[in-house]
Amino acid sequence: MIAADYHDYLEQVLISSEQIQARVAELGAEISRDYAGLDLLLICILRGGVLFLSDLMRHISVPHGVDFMALASYGSGSRQSSGQVRITLDLSTSIGSRDVLIVEDIIDSGHTLTSVMEFLRTRYPRSLEVCVLLDKAERREVQVPLRYRGFVIPNKFVFGYGLDLDEYYRNLPFIGVVRADKLGSFPC
Ligand code: IMP
Ligand code: MG
Repeated sequence: MIAADYHDYLEQVLISSEQIQARVAELGAEISRDYAGLDLLLICILRGGVLFLSDLMRHISVPHGVDFMALASYGSGSRQSSGQVRITLDLSTSIGSRDVLIVEDIIDSGHTLTSVMEFLRTRYPRSLEVCVLLDKAERREVQVPLRYRGFVIPNKFVFGYGLDLDEYYRNLPFIGVVRADKLGSFPC
């Protein structure tokens, strides 16, 4: 089946491309100040984090490495995060003694990032912090320390700028809210 044009699913643009780019530049500047002289490694959670990572790293002026991880949540197919995640792609870099910054698209219940942090801590990074673009703060079930946060958003299902609807529309340069009457059509 060929996916429909994104306009069919878009209720409203929540965060424009210009707003995202301005905030990402600020975050990059902050990270550059904070990590001066440290051995920064950005770890991007695939696939949602890729647009954020690639824009963010262009605003980070200190030397840094990048690596990628992919996760699957058990019981995927539901919009509710179960809290259980499985690593489907592991890092190719050793993180021992490095200053690790996780780059993630969105935090919702907090279970995904909690699991990722527990997993990474077993490898003894020198420091471990989180940079998240979107925070659905009112949905939090477990507290996660967020060192950098782009935007706090309401409890709405969003897509674009890395976030997908059934694997489509990650390329959109803005964050959009899904039309309520279309939500049922997606398993994500
Ligand atoms: P958590 O474990 O509940 O914090 O969920 C985090 C994950 O849920 C993210 O990595 C996303 O994959 C997914 N997610 C949560 N809310 C949204 C949304 O509004 N749009 C797309 N994905 C979402
Ligand atoms: Mg995700």
